[in-house]
Amino acid sequence: MTAKEQIEILREELNQHNYNYYVLNRPTISDYDFDQKMRLLQDLEEANPDCFDPNSPTQRVGSDLNNDFVQVTHARPMLSLANTYSSGEVMDFYHRVEQGLGGEAFEICCELKFDGLSISLIYESGRLVRAVTRGDGVRGDDVTANVRTIRSIPLVLRPGMDWPEEFEIRGEVLMPWSSFERLNVEREAAEEPLFANPRNAASGTLKLQNSAEVAHRGLDAYLYYLLSDDLPEDGHYENLQHAREWGFKVSDAMRKCSTLEQVMDFINYWDIERKNLPVATDGVVLKVNSVEQQERLGYTAKVPRWAIAYKFKAEQALTRLNSVSFQVGRQGTVTPVANFDAVQLSGTVVRRATLHNADFVDNLNLHIGDYVYVEKGGEIIPKITAVELSKRDDSLGDKVEMVTCCPVCGTPLVREEGEAAWYCPNDATCPPQVKGRIEHFVSRKAMNIDGLGGETVDLLYNVGLIHDVADLYRLKAADLSRLNRMGQKSASNIVRSIDASKEVPFERVLFAIGIRFIGETTAKTLARAFGSMDAIASASMEQLIAVNEIGEKIAASVTQFFANETNQLLVQRLREEGLQFEIKDVSLQEMGDALLGKSIVISGVFKHHSRDEYKMLIELNGGTNVSSISSKTSFVLAGENMGPAKLEKAHQLGIPIVGETEFLQMIGEPIPQPGELLLF
Ligand code: IVH
Repeated sequence: MTAKEQIEILREELNQHNYNYYVLNRPTISDYDFDQKMRLLQDLEEANPDCFDPNSPTQRVGSDLNNDFVQVTHARPMLSLANTYSSGEVMDFYHRVEQGLGGEAFEICCELKFDGLSISLIYESGRLVRAVTRGDGVRGDDVTANVRTIRSIPLVLRPGMDWPEEFEIRGEVLMPWSSFERLNVEREAAEEPLFANPRNAASGTLKLQNSAEVAHRGLDAYLYYLLSDDLPEDGHYENLQHAREWGFKVSDAMRKCSTLEQVMDFINYWDIERKNLPVATDGVVLKVNSVEQQERLGYTAKVPRWAIAYKFKAEQALTRLNSVSFQVGRQGTVTPVANFDAVQLSGTVVRRATLHNADFVDNLNLHIGDYVYVEKGGEIIPKITAVELSKRDDSLGDKVEMVTCCPVCGTPLVREEGEAAWYCPNDATCPPQVKGRIEHFVSRKAMNIDGLGGETVDLLYNVGLIHDVADLYRLKAADLSRLNRMGQKSASNIVRSIDASKEVPFERVLFAIGIRFIGETTAKTLARAFGSMDAIASASMEQLIAVNEIGEKIAASVTQFFANETNQLLVQRLREEGLQFEIKDVSLQEMGDALLGKSIVISGVFKHHSRDEYKMLIELNGGTNVSSISSKTSFVLAGENMGPAKLEKAHQLGIPIVGETEFLQMIGEPIPQPGELLLF
């Protein structure tokens, strides 16, 4: 057998296993055997580069290249559905259909309304060619590279089936509860903001620039709408059963109903049963089953007349408000939190809910002793939605007011114009702020100091061993092992890890010191643009704003941080401890202003440097990276396999295309010879 034949057999076999596992939920091979086959295919493909196929099962791991999303016009606009929360309106819909079809018999296909983000997949000759988000319904983002990493979406359809040569299939990209919970645990540990619900998490994930990260996040997809000039059958339900055979994940929770009673039974059954599903659903979609009848019923300006979405009411409970406490966050924001009698919601016991801010409390006109409605929809954080005024009596307590001083350190709170949040300005000594900053500093994505979790930081701070992050570098193993529950071994591991953090690259040090609004990515951008802590500290507002992606808010925060004397002292002490204060991997001296004022789009795959390195080179030479081509683009820096849509747009607008070598010459960079080490 030739290598090519072997590759083809393995691809087909692995596609079938993926289908069994991700679509049917019935694996017929052990994970180990699957991995062995995958490895064999990877090796064969590596040895036979002419057999490369972007739709091979080996390509699902994603790539670290940045995906600049190109906008694509949908061949058929992606409409939304009319929504209702009332069974009366479902009845009205049913009767409207009856009338619209002149009394002719019809069936309604009932299915679940999945709570994710809609996606349109285009297949040609049995292969996925494009995946596009809904966008504004007319145009969406091409997210093919990210969608390829979703294992339940077939890249190649099962062979020998009756799929049309060309078709579109729409569905919902979802983040299953299990992936969502795992992701939020990871984010909490890294002190990144949590996703409020799986929908936000799925949508944030699909728009990530790094498809390897998308692959890691465990997205899933259910398909629910087949469109083609060449449909196998007239029935929507029947077409979806075919689609399942071809390789798509189609929900089993579907029923063809021929009476209104059956429709209502389906709704009532799934309102309860959906709580046992692995993914979030927020209603039921009712569709006239016959495509021919759908066409006759047609569309209003915005929605089809042949379908409607019935939305489930979020789970709600009525409970008594006992007290309101005020929490102080790492950045000093003071958040009111409601404490109430425990209630059961979506399978968990809930005792507390955020009240967001002073305006929210005022709008509710909340009193201690009030009965409040607590809701937990698709969200993990419960919220209070209303007060039951009819339950108020003489025993009603005081009106809930926002505190005016910090509940921990007593400093009067301040509120910035236009902001809803009040915050404690005593960032220097307010304990939750100081401790929060230390916890952020040691966290995995910052200085990555192992063994120092929230509890230990609390302990060290409370016994007076640390007052700020620089104190960490003075800790001795003996200081630590004297603390409760800390053995000698753990103590010396922590000290070793603190010492090792002196090698953490500058961009992470910049993130770790906790300047307001400076997340991981912004820290990287600033580090690369200025090269050192001193250069950033002395940069003017104008110089900061001149950097791509740095706006006024961030620039002001940076200048304020470095103008503050306490921060200056802290930064100085960190410098003396030997932390990295300069970027290591760029030879800044040689950079110039060859690209000053130029807007550049990068596209394709490069030989001499990575895409990130080219982005850096553009900025270091005074240019600006932009993600999509417009008439303002100066040129496109193009590698191999530049996206056809970008190429076409560049031609249309007359934007020059500059190759890699030409670009390096333009900025006076040497062109690396084969085998030579790259600059970065
Ligand atoms: S059919 C023209 N079926 O709900 C009909 N949509 O509010 C197109 N959705 O944008 C949609 N589950 O993102 C359909 N089983 C289902 C669905 C579903 C979730 C979403 C979809 C759509 C939105 C409409």
